[in-house]
Amino acid sequence: MRKNEVDFDLFARKNAQIIAIVDLVFGDSGKGKLADLLAGTADITVRGTGGANAGHTIMISGEKFVFNLLSSGITRDKEGKISVIGRGTVIDPASLEKELAGLTARGMSWNGLRVSQDAQVVLPIHRVLDRLYEELAQKGKIGTTGRGIGPCYTDHRARIGVQVNDLLNRDILVRKVRTNLERHRVFLHRLDPLKVKDAVEAIDKELYHPTHFVDADAVVEYLLKHADVFAECITDTDALLISAVRTGKRVLLEGSQGVLLSVDYGTYPYVTSCDTSLSGLALGSGLSTDSVDYALSVMKAYTTRVGEGPFPTELADEEGEALRVRGHEYGATTGRSRGVGCLDLPLLRYAIPFSSASFALMKSDCLLKDGESAKLCTHYRYDGPEYRAGEKLYRAGDIVHTALPYADFLENCTPVYREMDGWKFEGLNPGVSKNALPSSFLKFIDVIEQETLGRVDVLSYGAEREETMFF
Ligand code: IMP
Ligand code: MG
Repeated sequence: MRKNEVDFDLFARKNAQIIAIVDLVFGDSGKGKLADLLAGTADITVRGTGGANAGHTIMISGEKFVFNLLSSGITRDKEGKISVIGRGTVIDPASLEKELAGLTARGMSWNGLRVSQDAQVVLPIHRVLDRLYEELAQKGKIGTTGRGIGPCYTDHRARIGVQVNDLLNRDILVRKVRTNLERHRVFLHRLDPLKVKDAVEAIDKELYHPTHFVDADAVVEYLLKHADVFAECITDTDALLISAVRTGKRVLLEGSQGVLLSVDYGTYPYVTSCDTSLSGLALGSGLSTDSVDYALSVMKAYTTRVGEGPFPTELADEEGEALRVRGHEYGATTGRSRGVGCLDLPLLRYAIPFSSASFALMKSDCLLKDGESAKLCTHYRYDGPEYRAGEKLYRAGDIVHTALPYADFLENCTPVYREMDGWKFEGLNPGVSKNALPSSFLKFIDVIEQETLGRVDVLSYGAEREETMFF
């Protein structure tokens, strides 16, 4: 183990065997960088939620890596680490195959990859339905990544999904794909065939065979062809984790998206289709929430959101554009440009109970350009018509400290900001302590901690692994 990795042993520092990292807000907070760093001292990294909608960007010695379904720990494969794609994920075999081919092309191995036999399979029809639902919704569209995530999770709950294990049993696979397609054909028949054709044609042709998506035999061939590449990695990852935990192995759970995109706790309906909170991550990994020794809520020093949905502190001006450029806020998966805005304490206060009050503050180096003052939202003023939330009644002019996750409510909230002295990061070499930070930045951290009753445990001030501090 190299020296700087010893310094970054959060497991030892927190006396934890299982650590979870969960984005507190709308995703894209830099979990990838953190997961990659912590994976250095973990034995196993696990993805428990989401699918190829996620995009984790990691910089290693100036080289950029983007992963979708794979956990960021895959970069440590040569060190003998295990990377699990857990039971709560949705797996598009063609997309996973492509990701693995990308690793191979860069001379990277994936010997330690393990894919849960219980995860759900994203079928070609899920990608078509994802497009169609968005198009039919028009005004109420979600702004999905178009990866078939929502329809796949929906089929899981509708009990017509296909499980990864079915990929190992051809006859069962044929039967299940047939059942699934029969159900969806009822809907497709009611649509204008031209609409369906358009949706199909909009899908990445490399990954997908556009003419065969409702033909069960063709779908089965397609799935098996792509799944063949990782068929040997399919296993009971629940059992693997239980036994690993028993024998003292260190496990890192890597969340996807963010709490405010959770189907259960997020800004519904502008959310993804799985539970991205700490409990959702643990369950999707095959572990109980209780088994997590230390959970880290990851957030940026500002806020971003991609897709539709409420975003109270969004900066739709040049200030926002400049921040977007400084933070490279363009989607790793879809290339979409992300909305950017100020750090939003009311949203954090709402989200913390679904993750943790221990924070990793990321991209603190991107927030300010030289000489600028810092700004964060401490509370909202409610400006809409009377709004009832349970027994509470909100009226125009009311102060809101803790956000409610409802789009109709948040759209009528006006952020109130606190301006603070800016700072400039200088001379922050790997290994320096908190004392090296500018006092105005320490004040910024203080305000976050006092206003949320949380604690910043980890600070990231650059894209590279070493540009991280543990407090
Ligand atoms: P879906 O997950 O593709 O269904 O998209 C639902 C919503 O979640 C959309 O607003 C997406 O932009 C958003 N979303 C999905 N995955 C990510 C992610 O990894 N980072 C940020 N936003 C995401
Ligand atoms: Mg991302």
